[in-house]
Amino acid sequence: MSQRVSKGGAPMDEKAANGLQMPPEVMLDLARKAAELLVDRTHSLPGEGAWDGEFREGLKEVLLEVPSERGRPGDEVIEYAAREILPYTLRLDHPRSFGFISSAPTWPGVLADFIAAGYNVNACTWLVASGPSQLELVVIEWFRRWLGYPENAGGLFTSGGSAASLDAFVAAREAAGHPRHATVYMSDQSHTAFFRAAIIAGIRRENVRIIPSDDRFRLDMAALRRKVAEDRSSGYAPVAICANAGASSTGAIDPLPEMADYCEAENIWLHVDAAYGGFAVVCDEGKALLRGIERADSIGLDAHKWLFQPYEAGCLLVKDADTLEKAFGVHHDVLQDTVWGANHPNFSDRGLQLSRSFRALKVWMSVQTFGMAAFRDAIAMGIRLAARAQEYVEASSILEVVSPASLGVVCFRVNPAETRASEETLEKINRKVLAQMFWDDPAFISSASPQGSFSLRLCIINHNTQWSDVEETLKAVERFGADAVHSAD
Ligand SMILES: Cc1ncc(COP(=O)(O)O)c(C=O)c1O
Repeated sequence: MSQRVSKGGAPMDEKAANGLQMPPEVMLDLARKAAELLVDRTHSLPGEGAWDGEFREGLKEVLLEVPSERGRPGDEVIEYAAREILPYTLRLDHPRSFGFISSAPTWPGVLADFIAAGYNVNACTWLVASGPSQLELVVIEWFRRWLGYPENAGGLFTSGGSAASLDAFVAAREAAGHPRHATVYMSDQSHTAFFRAAIIAGIRRENVRIIPSDDRFRLDMAALRRKVAEDRSSGYAPVAICANAGASSTGAIDPLPEMADYCEAENIWLHVDAAYGGFAVVCDEGKALLRGIERADSIGLDAHKWLFQPYEAGCLLVKDADTLEKAFGVHHDVLQDTVWGANHPNFSDRGLQLSRSFRALKVWMSVQTFGMAAFRDAIAMGIRLAARAQEYVEASSILEVVSPASLGVVCFRVNPAETRASEETLEKINRKVLAQMFWDDPAFISSASPQGSFSLRLCIINHNTQWSDVEETLKAVERFGADAVHSAD
């Protein structure tokens, strides 16, 4: 009799179930094992390195297996993944993971993804998922209120900021009547996701205008005005202007009120990229910094960044919810039963995806569990830690600020006053420090080059991070920096 393997390798009668099912006790044992693994990891993480990785040669041997025909015990499979695959990552949720945009998910958010997968929710249409669709409306409504957006605003969850920007460009292009010679505008600090999204949305590469930023890394309004005027007189049709509400390299916030005035006067769609910075609006400090965001035609936000959710939890909000359905709503006869009327939106008519995971659940479960005060405090803490990191750098005899703390980001470099090193030497010194940080791994930091100056960069938006983590990291940079300066002499 043919058999398949279940818990602990014990054979299970194939007649009891089809080949892809498991008895309840096995399901529970495996779920417990996975949960224990994650809880143990959360507690051991601060004592471990922030990064681990391996070259392909090293991993190939282990992972290039042909799948077995008869399967193997589920607990072994989990252990194998935990030993051979999962450790080889940047631990973005490590308290000293400051590179790129690192953040840590909250446990209810992690469980929400597990539960949503278990219920096999497809948040595509009202008919298929009315409960999840209503919850998505609720969470989008929370975001709308936090941002101070008008009542008829609406939106949807997306995989992330890149998908949100693509949806925004398509909506902007449609709202402008899909002109032939469309142009879009963004600053030299804008995320490359925008450039890519513009191309996917059908804007020609050469029609993506990169506007210089000023000495505070904010889009230069005079340059924008000049370029738009020049384009209009040459027959181009400006369809969207992108503003940063937390540029990823420097945290810079573009002059949002001025850009909103300008876009209103020129009748051009204003999209604000608030992927990492946007949730700062929930605390007073952030709200003041992001004033004007509520005037944008669309806003992209990533809950997997500063709202502490597991990937993927992006979101796009538009000032007028109808603009999305005008751009994305299409008829398909296989879905004709799913039209329930205007009060029952089909989220698949608001963006790129038809089949969609239930992303709103993780935000809802996390906020319900901890309450808004905990989120507000954790976000405000990131802003304060970045400001404190800047103060530390300013007081250091060996470090200098390259771009001041903005939201959760600060850029700095090793540059002792007495050295008077050339830009080239400074770059060499700082690259060496970065490499040393990487291999010694007291913390994970990354670099950026604001206006051409190679810099070390901290992004501090992890709710697990304390000042001691930031301080230890800066002390390590000072130590390695002193060695690098010495050996460059
Ligand atoms: C400011 C900003 N915009 C857009 C993106 C792209 O978002 P995603 O990676 O969620 O697609 C990022 C990603 O880090 C970002 O920091």
